[in-house]
Amino acid sequence: MNFSNLTTELTNEILTLKINRPKQLNALTRLTIEEIGKAVSHAINNEDVKGIILTGTGEKAFVAGADIKEFSSFNREQGQSLSAFGHMVFKQIEDCPKPIIAAVNGFALGGGCELAMACHIRVASETAKFSQPEVQLGLVPGYGGTQRLVKLIGKSRALELLLTGDMINAFQAKEYGLVNEVVTLAELMPFANKLMQKITSKSALTAKAILKCVNAHYLSLDEGYETETIEFGKCFQTSDFREGVSAFLEKRKPNFSNR
Ligand code: CAA
Repeated sequence: MNFSNLTTELTNEILTLKINRPKQLNALTRLTIEEIGKAVSHAINNEDVKGIILTGTGEKAFVAGADIKEFSSFNREQGQSLSAFGHMVFKQIEDCPKPIIAAVNGFALGGGCELAMACHIRVASETAKFSQPEVQLGLVPGYGGTQRLVKLIGKSRALELLLTGDMINAFQAKEYGLVNEVVTLAELMPFANKLMQKITSKSALTAKAILKCVNAHYLSLDEGYETETIEFGKCFQTSDFREGVSAFLEKRKPNFSNR
């Protein structure tokens, strides 16, 4: 697929999506978000894709937020519509049955931090910086920041970042639990690829079920437990379960068929 704000590369069953507006620090226009959504939908239906890595073009920014110029003259209805659209696409990322890693290569601000948080795992370069600076624009975050940040780092720290708009570096972000790992900029993509290969070497069916269970927790704890029970039961009818258990008993590595 061809996109104007996004480049795509498929290597070893891993699709790398690179937001490609480096002059605007990869700021997200509505079109950019639409293209990310289309690329993820396409990847979900493409059997050749086992996992997705989302990153930004250039060495400066992952994504410096929603494109401020685009929404500068919006009215209330247009603002609500933009937020609802962002929510829909970011939820699609979060609910994606294939694992998505954000490789944060620089500024992840506002909508950029929100995009990273919608991904399943975040790895960051030492140069990455995170913030929800909307408060300085007289705005609240519109792409899920007030919800996902609280879930990821807890209410107190989330409120401090949201109310001050302060920027934190990659090491603080790791300490807060916002990112999983921090590596040098040169190591970022090799690290993200290696992590994804480790994940995709397991059963894709099981990964899909784990993602479904963990996301169900967002609905309610009860729904989370119920989903886990259903998915646990479903595993017993898969070839991958029989293969995984046989491999353990026979003291060998499993060879999953994703069935
Ligand atoms: N939207 C549109 N353009 C942006 C942008 C954004 N979010 N962030 C950066 N740019 C543009 C700048 O306007 C500039 O363009 P020009 O060369 O045409 O002037 C170019 O990218 C380079 O940026 P700077 O010259 O500002 O670079 P810098 O190194 O001096 O500063 C920065 C970098 C600290 C990231 C600064 O650009 C900045 O503060 N950007 C805005 C960050 C922000 O407020 N993000 C939140 C947006 S609102 C949002 O995301 C709402 C939501 O939740 C949905």
